[in-house]
Amino acid sequence: MTFSRIAATGSHLPDRAVTNQELATRVDTTDEWIVSRSGISQRYLANDAERTSDLALAAARKALTTAGWAPDDLDLIVVATTTPDMTFPSTACIVQAGLGVTNGCAAFDVQAVCSGFIYAFATADAMIRSGMVKKALVIGAETLSRIIDWNDRGTCVLFGDGAGCVLLEAATEPGVIGCHLHADGRHMPILKAPGVLEAGQVRGNPFIEMDGQAVFKFAVEALAATAQETLAAHGMSGEDVDWMVPHQANIRIIQSTAKRLKIPMERVVTTVAQHGNTSAASIPLALDVAVRDGRIRRGQTVLMEGIGAGFAWGSALVRY
Ligand code: UT7
Repeated sequence: MTFSRIAATGSHLPDRAVTNQELATRVDTTDEWIVSRSGISQRYLANDAERTSDLALAAARKALTTAGWAPDDLDLIVVATTTPDMTFPSTACIVQAGLGVTNGCAAFDVQAVCSGFIYAFATADAMIRSGMVKKALVIGAETLSRIIDWNDRGTCVLFGDGAGCVLLEAATEPGVIGCHLHADGRHMPILKAPGVLEAGQVRGNPFIEMDGQAVFKFAVEALAATAQETLAAHGMSGEDVDWMVPHQANIRIIQSTAKRLKIPMERVVTTVAQHGNTSAASIPLALDVAVRDGRIRRGQTVLMEGIGAGFAWGSALVRY
């Protein structure tokens, strides 16, 4: 039987860190409000020339170097993003060319907003287990700052830019223990960026619109439920988890999920204070931080869970 395992991780942040104090000079907000409501102190923002693929490429190169893989070793590139470089081609194809891959490997994007990395990860895991591919690069990358209304204090203080990735490879034992994915499009109205390009014009609001409280309530319930579901499917509970690596949207959502799962915060990786909400990038960014600083070690059990607009959500249980 074939399974998949994480061979290496990588991440990249833009150079420019923007503090809450700096935002407070632009919109009617305070550091105290942002920290107490979300746990965010700063976020990184891409410069005008930086595209999502640039951040993705930098993260991918770090992971490939760590694993000692050549770009042409890859059989698959999946990029989870809500902020692709362009309408088409996919950001995955742009990353493929940027890495110098010439072997014709499969490359495509996944659009599941903040749960995009979990969706991409589960897809790559399934393709490896089916025998279709052996080595996959799975990236979550965003330049979310491009779809934020910088005059809307209700959203602009929450989001940031960045990229994270994992390399997955075929293995004789897990590795990836299990993944669960869900979506319910009926909740579409509470979080959306409804604008589209039509006849050469943007039709509708191109910026993020959010009912924060409704998103908060839904996220807390759905994240705990999907994490419980994945743990229960493998006869585990929160006590068996060495590290939880959640989507980094709000420290209060993370604390609430951890409490429901009976996982103490000492075993939860949080980067939301430094990174803000980087959507599809947030989970692999946090994973890479904790792998590189030595917290997450080989053989440990890691629970990842994410949720975003759609609504779409899911979880993945991994023996690192
Ligand atoms: O990946 C998923 C993406 N999104 C999320 O996960 C977001 C989930 N929701 C949240 O994180 C929280 O709901 C927020 C952080 C967005 C907001 O926190 P809240 O405790 O739910 O605040 P609220 O929306 O109830 O707003 C409270 C007050 C309002 O004023 P009034 O109506 O009470 O006078 C807002 O207008 O805070 C006001 N407010 C602000 N004040 C200062 C909203 N944004 C700000 C701001 N600074 N940036």
